[in-house]
Amino acid sequence: MNILVIGNGGREHAICWKLKHSKEITSLHIAPGNAGTAALGTNVPIKPTDIEGLLRYVRKQEIDLTIVGPEAPLAEGIVDTFRAEGLRIFGPTRAAAQLETSKAFAKDFMKRHRIPTAAYEVFHTGDEERLAEFLRKASYPLVLKADGLAAGKGVLIIDSEKDAVRSGLAMMRGESFGTAGATLVVEEFLRGIEASVFALTDGTRFVTLAPAQDHKRILDNDLGKNTGGMGAFAPTPHMPTETLAEVKIRIIKPVLDGMRSDGIPYTGVLYVGLMLTEDGPKVLEFNCRFGDPETQVVLPLIDYDLAVLLRDIADGTLQLSRLPLHDANAVCVVLASSGYPDEYKTGKVISGLDSIDEAREGVLVFHAETRAESGRVFTAGGRVLGVTALGEDRDFAASIRLAYNAVSRIRFDGAYYRTDIGRKALD
Ligand code: AMP
Ligand code: GLY
Repeated sequence: MNILVIGNGGREHAICWKLKHSKEITSLHIAPGNAGTAALGTNVPIKPTDIEGLLRYVRKQEIDLTIVGPEAPLAEGIVDTFRAEGLRIFGPTRAAAQLETSKAFAKDFMKRHRIPTAAYEVFHTGDEERLAEFLRKASYPLVLKADGLAAGKGVLIIDSEKDAVRSGLAMMRGESFGTAGATLVVEEFLRGIEASVFALTDGTRFVTLAPAQDHKRILDNDLGKNTGGMGAFAPTPHMPTETLAEVKIRIIKPVLDGMRSDGIPYTGVLYVGLMLTEDGPKVLEFNCRFGDPETQVVLPLIDYDLAVLLRDIADGTLQLSRLPLHDANAVCVVLASSGYPDEYKTGKVISGLDSIDEAREGVLVFHAETRAESGRVFTAGGRVLGVTALGEDRDFAASIRLAYNAVSRIRFDGAYYRTDIGRKALD
């Protein structure tokens, strides 16, 4: 198969790395890719949202399977366009991607299909008075969510009525998240441990990957601002087999059945963000794509040909009922540019990458935002690299040591990382 991967993050580097192990792969193309993917295939300078450009490329290169990494092209309907042209593509349609692109859609869907999630109320521009009234009677903390895509930043946890009114009104007026906040979801605050489960589905059948845990905050001990994710580990010991079974029966299956019965079957990967509460697992959010950095820990644990799996899903012919996984664990530490998730500098030379012998050490260095030029690698964004260490069985302590040992050998001006990634796997 000739395969095209769309995107340029650590997630896409990890997807390409796993695809390279496939027996079925003839050529690998990445649009636009990064310095890491350049070593595995051909980087093509086409933007992920340039659907016409991608279509032309796929025809010219006779691509057999297109795999969409980020949400933006899905939200713009790349899957609908490609399918209408008879092309094989992995991902949900624009309508199905609403599970991520509209939080109000996702919440109403869950309510209708009785899928466990936090209690909520939806407000639109014009509902200012109703919102103020609701916030007066609410108990705190509570959660405000911009309806639309906000690059992982559209969620605010609020401690007082005063802050809720100020932030809620600012969101509705488009002052904080633009049009994404014009519709607002106000949600009950859930307590518990978070986990992410990825279901790969052809719309009817599905398999799950190892449950993972992300580290969303910028500082150690989950303090500071929310980010795209500063590290991850899998399989999380906080989700034993029985809990995963409950997630499949009470959440994933009803979601897929509900989407089919609503006439918008969901295909591709469904990212289920969960809070494991005292009352069982509840959905925090859905994403219509693989998580980043969770992908960097869940894909290395798959003991199966990824190209075959994603092709079968795209064809609607998934036969597996359980995906073979390695009896191993993975820990990924993200190296970011200091200042992220706010302002940061780019264009810094990265050194020490050569000091890591991936095969011998059991460490994988996934590039996120990097750029190669005249034999050197430079930083090109907020999250720069994801260093993933693999360990045997459930020995997370060894993987954590391995990951941080590799991290300490990589240098660039302003490199920042959390020092407590994986600690929750040891509790
Ligand atoms: P989301 O983008 O919806 O996953 O929200 C980002 C982060 O905000 C989540 O990973 C949680 O840490 C937190 N969060 C979202 N919704 C809730 C909730 N209802 N209760 C507690 N924390 C939440
Ligand atoms: N790591 C969180 C996400 O991919 O949305």
